[in-house]
Amino acid sequence: MSKNAYQEVYPFTTENIQGYMKDLDMKDKEVLTVGSSLDQAYNALALGAKKVKVLDINKNTKRFCELKSNLILTHKRKELYAAVMCRKSLMEDRGIICSNERFDVERVESLNYYMQNEETYRKLRQRLREQEALTVVEGNIFEMDKTIGDEKFDRIFFSNVLQMLDYFKDKNESAYDMLEKHFPNWKSHLNSEGILQLFYLYSFRRTTPVEEGSLDIAFFESCTGVGATTDAAVLYTKRR
Ligand SMILES: C[S@@+](CC[C@H](N)C(=O)[O-])C[C@H]1O[C@@H](n2cnc3c(N)ncnc32)[C@H](O)[C@@H]1O
Repeated sequence: MSKNAYQEVYPFTTENIQGYMKDLDMKDKEVLTVGSSLDQAYNALALGAKKVKVLDINKNTKRFCELKSNLILTHKRKELYAAVMCRKSLMEDRGIICSNERFDVERVESLNYYMQNEETYRKLRQRLREQEALTVVEGNIFEMDKTIGDEKFDRIFFSNVLQMLDYFKDKNESAYDMLEKHFPNWKSHLNSEGILQLFYLYSFRRTTPVEEGSLDIAFFESCTGVGATTDAAVLYTKRR
């Protein structure tokens, strides 16, 4: 499968990452995540993950990670939003295309644990100074073995990539077939009791949660923070 989409980077997350990640026990966990804004990775590190590997189809993710991590290390918490946003045209001059930011500074701070207060920001900066804590590799979640071999993780985050299943599937394949085909491989990259965040669902109406088995739906405040709607994340836990 050769796909060349998703070459934009996101200045900051468009999800309520705090909403689901804070309850997942990240302490000392090995984490794999897609890149986007890198906020999934930064939140995981600030919440105590041992190591984070970013796997992203976007060839600009590594350069964006170097740039944003450097901004975090050199700017105060309250300066970070403006520092990232004002580098958009500089990044575009270097061939890194940026998506338009969806939220203002207050909302971005509330979606990200690492931006909550001086202490969470300090924790992230400390982690970013560790050589091996954060690595970035270019790859496709539908061909994970090619990039990460048989590595295993305690937490895997797919953000909302699976909303775009139609883009990645073969012409005569259904979205269901596609999920069924790839799920055993994703599962094989989880340690026992490892958790895979499969879907991020925007404005998902709260219904009765799944109570049995390995699938769970976490509901939390919508990323927009507006009204009574919730967002949700579908989580799979590997029981054996
Ligand atoms: C779909 S975007 C959305 C941003 C997200 N809502 C957030 O808040 O961060 C997530 C990231 O997944 C990456 N991506 C999309 N499809 C992928 C795939 N098949 N394998 C690996 N990364 C992929 C994109 O390049 C992008 O960096």
